[in-house]
Amino acid sequence: MSLFSKRKSLEQITQEANSHGLKRCLGPWQLTTIGVGATIGAGIFVMTGTAAANYAGPAVVLSFIVAAIACLFTAFSYGELSSTIPVAGSAYSYAYTSLGEKFAWAVGWLLLLEYGVTAISVASGFSSYSASLLQNFHIEIPSFLYHPMFQPSPEGYSKGIIITKSIDLIGAISVLIGSVALLFGVSESTTINAIIITLKVSILILFIVIGFFYINPANLTPFIPESTGTMNFGVTGIFRAASTIFFAYIGFEAVSTAASEAKNPQKDIPFGIIASLVISTLIYIGVALVLVGVVPYKQLNVSDPLAVATNFINIPFLTWTLKISAVIGLCSVMLVLLYGQTRIFFIMAKDGLLPPAFCNLHPRYKTPWLGTLILGISVSIATAILPIDIVSDLVSLGTSTAFGIVCFTVIWQRNAHPDLPRPFKVPFGGFKIKGVWIGYIPLLGIICCMAMIVPLLFDMVASIFYHNPIPIILLIIYALVGFFGYYCYGRKHSLLNQTSEKSE
Ligand code: ALA
Repeated sequence: MSLFSKRKSLEQITQEANSHGLKRCLGPWQLTTIGVGATIGAGIFVMTGTAAANYAGPAVVLSFIVAAIACLFTAFSYGELSSTIPVAGSAYSYAYTSLGEKFAWAVGWLLLLEYGVTAISVASGFSSYSASLLQNFHIEIPSFLYHPMFQPSPEGYSKGIIITKSIDLIGAISVLIGSVALLFGVSESTTINAIIITLKVSILILFIVIGFFYINPANLTPFIPESTGTMNFGVTGIFRAASTIFFAYIGFEAVSTAASEAKNPQKDIPFGIIASLVISTLIYIGVALVLVGVVPYKQLNVSDPLAVATNFINIPFLTWTLKISAVIGLCSVMLVLLYGQTRIFFIMAKDGLLPPAFCNLHPRYKTPWLGTLILGISVSIATAILPIDIVSDLVSLGTSTAFGIVCFTVIWQRNAHPDLPRPFKVPFGGFKIKGVWIGYIPLLGIICCMAMIVPLLFDMVASIFYHNPIPIILLIIYALVGFFGYYCYGRKHSLLNQTSEKSE
């Protein structure tokens, strides 16, 4: 039994791409909007604070640069694959044509972490900022309505998880509303999305410009605080923080999930991917620098760190607009992530790897309505009970693995199909070992993604010794469900499997 068996041919996948029934209505800037919309969210609005307070101090700025470099290598790899295989389904489709069905399933399962599960964290961020905004209107939401059932222990996340009587109702309802909005079709959702992103980006730029004048150099000294534990502060802390805020970069590749709805996928998808990563990176570095420059990093272990910074700056207008833009912006991220996930489910169901409910289109809105609802309800329940800390670490782990596979797929494709037309290629070429081409950029991408995975795994295992086995248990359960899902359902219903059995 070969690990690499049953691949889709490129002709087959291209033909499927042209007969999917979805509308082709997205141009390059709309695609970039999808990327920026999916990227700038809870990572910068929420996780930057905890990453600085617990792991890197002011050097969280360097963590953002480290994570951006890893993502840039991956973005180039995505660019090449999306121009060669311009179909929806993102890394899943690339794996299906290159590495075969088992890898495709594994990647599809990892992408669920990257999109569906990420939406849980974003919804948590949304409820924190909503409650914080409502406080400005003197409306106090009881904390048990916007905190999840499982919460980090008072001594910190790595010291354990406690079960409470809270339910994050605000986050859960927001997911349901977002899912219903998506039922009404992509054009409407992306237009609203574009307006929201303009607001979100403008306010963050305002935060950077105003905040720059309030930076206190004393807050930035020492820039890399002395290490206080294996992964806390010092140089290793920078990498631990980078793997936490890696989460912030997830989304730029959501552009590739919209290939079936792009007007000119071969040119516009690589453009959208790289443009959205570059825009997000510049904003992140600016925001992180202002944040740790304005607020002493030890005070940033909160769920609304940018709001804390605006309190230090003490310009009420900035506090208000920032909270409003965070609330609306996090909604847009949620929409794009849910959108991306439904499209990945859609293509997997078309391949027979998931039940047909995920690819049945609504007769009027042409959206996978039932799949969208199922996803919305599941994400909503998970939002009500799971804390952002656990979820975002799982997401970063799954995403770094999926990104590493994407980089590997570029190398595989170049060797398996050297003559395919590639309108966009990873820059700087590569070298050969025993006739096998290895690209510098994809290779560096694989190495960087591994550098993101190691600190997370290390921390998950270390947490067991602090009586906090939940992250590793969730990871194992997730892997097992994926494994049995394929062997009990996917493999039996796979269309490719059935076609190859008939032709044998
Ligand atoms: N990158 C997205 C965020 O930070 C997932 O919310």
